[in-house]
Amino acid sequence: MGERMDGRAVRAAARFSVAPMMDWTDRHCRVFHRLLTRRALLYTEMVTAPAVVHGDRARLLGFSPEEHPVALQLGGSDPALLAEAVRIACDFGYDEINLNVGCPSDRVQNGAFGACLMREPELVARCVAAMRAASEGAGGPEITVKCRIGVDVQEPESALRDFLRIVSAAGVSRFAVHARKAWLQGLSPKENRTVPPLDYALVRAVRDENPGLHVSLNGGIETLDAAAGHLADGFEGVMLGRAAYQSPGAVLSRVDERVFGDAPRPVDARAVVETMTAYTACAGVPVKSVGRHMLGLFAGQPGAKVWRRYLSEHMHLPDAGPHTLIEAFDAMARRPAHA
Ligand SMILES: Cc1cc2nc3c(=O)[nH]c(=O)nc-3n(C[C@H](O)[C@H](O)[C@H](O)COP(=O)(O)O)c2cc1C
Repeated sequence: MGERMDGRAVRAAARFSVAPMMDWTDRHCRVFHRLLTRRALLYTEMVTAPAVVHGDRARLLGFSPEEHPVALQLGGSDPALLAEAVRIACDFGYDEINLNVGCPSDRVQNGAFGACLMREPELVARCVAAMRAASEGAGGPEITVKCRIGVDVQEPESALRDFLRIVSAAGVSRFAVHARKAWLQGLSPKENRTVPPLDYALVRAVRDENPGLHVSLNGGIETLDAAAGHLADGFEGVMLGRAAYQSPGAVLSRVDERVFGDAPRPVDARAVVETMTAYTACAGVPVKSVGRHMLGLFAGQPGAKVWRRYLSEHMHLPDAGPHTLIEAFDAMARRPAHA
């Protein structure tokens, strides 16, 4: 899993991050994303603290050295369990450990963590204090928090301010804020990512009132231009979820140049597909576990439909294998001019 990165380098990487997304940002996805951007901070899916403590650690926490900088997101609300999960995770070499205070799904609410913790900032403060102590004791990374601007009938103007004040007093200075409320009753997790309105102005105002905090703006940022605009506006970081996942070629392959000021480095798409073919063979996983994250590689470019169709039709077949990725690329390269 490789050496943990220096804290300052991780903060610098947090200028642009790919959001934690359950079932999406698994280790195969992160290896793929890393081929497109060397610099962005990549988040894992949320892993619950009880799962880390009692479950198959290698499966839940294992990652490849090339994924750095990579942040683990934990879910939980029991300070002792979270501290134990942090101690375990420190051995794996994560560059950051993040607490989820934003996920609204039923499963998460029943465990009394995720977005419902917006109502309990003192409990979150105890959680992060325990996590920090565990990380410091194990020579581990920074503890950060991802939150919403409020839940249910909370008034975001005060809910977000109170939350950041109380949690930052427990020693957290980096936050990712999904700039909309979550409705814990009545909206599905998916609706909770689209229906409640975005309030960037509130996050911006609260950020300006707390100059010591590093705030990454999250929610509804669809293009690199929009991301660059928010950075120019004073946010220390931006976090993109769906746009990065659904259009990785368009978004992630230009991040290093556009956001980090690196010299232009044209991404060779065939080389990316070849590397992922070799990775799939080496990891010994079904190609569908890797290919599903790559369907959007050419989104918005000529041939995107042929690539997507070939891959989605072939990667589930019994004779599919790592070679299916290259075949999809070749099918796209051979397509008739109008396809
Ligand atoms: C499929 C999916 C799974 C998600 N899983 C998580 C998760 O595990 N933890 C979390 O904090 N947020 C999760 N989110 C929310 C994203 O991290 C992000 O906050 C949200 O999608 C808004 O950003 P976007 O508009 O750039 O996508 C998930 C989002 C999606 C689409």
